[in-house]
Amino acid sequence: MLEITKLGHPVLRAKAEPIREIDAALRRFAADMLEAMYEHEGCGLAANQVGVARRIIVIDTRGAKNRPSVLRLGGKSLPVHKHMPMVLVNPELEFGPERESGDEACLSIPGIHGDVDRARVVRLRALDLDGAAVEFEAEGLLSRALQHEVDHLDGILFIDRLDAEERKRVADELHAMAR
Ligand code: NI
Repeated sequence: MLEITKLGHPVLRAKAEPIREIDAALRRFAADMLEAMYEHEGCGLAANQVGVARRIIVIDTRGAKNRPSVLRLGGKSLPVHKHMPMVLVNPELEFGPERESGDEACLSIPGIHGDVDRARVVRLRALDLDGAAVEFEAEGLLSRALQHEVDHLDGILFIDRLDAEERKRVADELHAMAR
């Protein structure tokens, strides 16, 4: 089982490297990432969170029953559950203009959560594990999870995106936990 890296580990602040070759080793690594994500009941995981600074994320939002996800291709909504879990290699996002606030947590920062302001809609481009191009639009929890995980690949954590008041509360909580 892959171990989850925790806040304070430098790999969480590293900018992950693009993946140049999609091979059997990468497919094995993706399967291990999914196993770790399910074990810890997360809905997303980035490679940095298992100590590897390479651009791959896994997502499965099906466990979050009260937080719907929307997946759209060419303007048409697709059944999200049929496309889970997702493994996305070299993911890139385009952000829609509208914003939305929502609660987030992170397996690398256990015990902490807070409201984060993000784009309501994103368009994702990535490769799948066969090297095929993937492109879709996302709303709801899927949009939020994609933004959270792609942030990890750039060394950004959700606590960096909290407003000043929330950040103060979280800093106090982290401080108390460190003691
Ligand atoms: Ni996270």
